[in-house]
Amino acid sequence: MTDLPDSIEATETLLAGAGYVSSRALATVVFLSLKLGRPLFLEGEAGVGKTEIAKALAAGLDRRLIRLQCYEGLDAASAVYEWNFPAQMVAIRTAEATAAADRQALTEELFSDRFLIRRPLLEAMSPQDGGAPVLLIDELDRTDEPFEAFLLEALSDFQVTIPELGTITAPEPPIVILTSNRTREVHDALKRRCLYHWVDYPSFEREMAVLQSRAPEAREELSRQVVAFVQQLRAEDLFKKPGVAETIDWAKCLVALDHVELSPAVIADTLGALLKYQDDIQKLQGSEARRILDESKAALEPV
Ligand SMILES: Nc1ncnc2c1ncn2[C@@H]1O[C@H](COP(=O)(O)OP(=O)(O)OP(=O)(O)O)[C@@H](O)[C@H]1O
Ligand SMILES: [Mg+2]
Repeated sequence: MTDLPDSIEATETLLAGAGYVSSRALATVVFLSLKLGRPLFLEGEAGVGKTEIAKALAAGLDRRLIRLQCYEGLDAASAVYEWNFPAQMVAIRTAEATAAADRQALTEELFSDRFLIRRPLLEAMSPQDGGAPVLLIDELDRTDEPFEAFLLEALSDFQVTIPELGTITAPEPPIVILTSNRTREVHDALKRRCLYHWVDYPSFEREMAVLQSRAPEAREELSRQVVAFVQQLRAEDLFKKPGVAETIDWAKCLVALDHVELSPAVIADTLGALLKYQDDIQKLQGSEARRILDESKAALEPV
């Protein structure tokens, strides 16, 4: 376990140590959320590095990462705890053949730790070796409002109640990161509990730094062309703009094919690493790729 960072710079360094290139604004909000013990709510387009922040934070702080992946229909039972029903049944069947005293003992034990399946929220509120864990509640926009309301309560007092066992309170509140792709608006009440940051596409310099960290095998000149092209591409009217994840993938593909620079032919061959919708790919057919490439190269020229 590492101590919490004591400044914005220290937070930047901590994230960088885990390979995450953060902007000053992001490092500031992460620092504040750690310092004030407030959950951090991150929104942004797909593949801009939201989930990775929680991973980098857990790695940098040497804490356990507990992830609650949200999906449509997620309910409290799958998020907090469940009773291991099959195991309870087996135990009951076995006990039927034993002495009455054993059966009595089992009745008392049926709803105890032995048959409890801890799901992420309960896990995050249970005592941990090595300090409070990082609790990542990923893609919150995929759940529905009742679950959100439930979450709001759990995050207000960091405790959960299991009727058969009582209330479990976190000895130390977990470090909570929530992410959303904004497919729907998350309720104000939940947002109000959190600090908020919109994770934007990175600047040229920052995306270069990300490539250096995540795809160091790409030569600098190739990386410069790749980043300039992707940045130019994001200015186009696309159904789904490429995220940082796509930039990294594309650079890796180009290296795997031994390309040292971009050309319209190379782009046409490898576009599937960058764009995932046929309509978008079609838009870049013909002279379009060349135009964007030329524009991106012009932007690279020193002025
Ligand atoms: N600033 C960054 N520094 C280092 N790596 C980054 C950065 N931004 C993105 N990445 C890399 O990009 C990839 C995608 O990031 P991540 O999965 O966190 O995106 P996301 O915003 O959660 O996307 P989605 O909305 O699709 O879940 C990861 O492999 C991550 O390592
Ligand atoms: Mg994610």
